[in-house]
Amino acid sequence: MIRPIVLHPDARLKKKSVQVESITDALIKLADDMMETMYDAPGIGLAAPQIGVLERLIVMDCAKKEGEEPDPIIMVNPIITASSAEKSVYEEGCLSIPEHFAEITRPEFVQVEWVDLDGKQHSEEFNRLKSTCIQHEIDHLNGKLFIDYLGPMKRQLITRKMQKFKREKLRGDE
Ligand code: NI
Repeated sequence: MIRPIVLHPDARLKKKSVQVESITDALIKLADDMMETMYDAPGIGLAAPQIGVLERLIVMDCAKKEGEEPDPIIMVNPIITASSAEKSVYEEGCLSIPEHFAEITRPEFVQVEWVDLDGKQHSEEFNRLKSTCIQHEIDHLNGKLFIDYLGPMKRQLITRKMQKFKREKLRGDE
């Protein structure tokens, strides 16, 4: 089921999400809905708070080039256990801030621990786009958006444009 995506600015996007205590049928359904919502958008990552659920769950699929095999990843309670001093820069966007993009500098490599939907523990190193995507999605679980890395002027400009976009969308939905 495709769920509506929470748009910035919204208090739910600024909150810290809680740990998932157990893998339930409801959680599996939630992950399934998130994956469907992400592919439909389309996007390469989605965090639970972006559909209004303040739990530590993210989904991604960074295989976005034509002809590339799908590469869906679901992470429950992901944490970054190490990150590199080397940085990489990507132009980031966010399904909660549509049509706005900015170059963001982040560690190039991260070591990530997470639990999958079978309750199995994983630890893996990621680089490049996947690394950026994971860091962006984990930020969502901590109430942080990519625009929080920008200067206040740029951030306020995007926020004002998003407020206008949401007002117009609301009127259009009536
Ligand atoms: Ni995002």
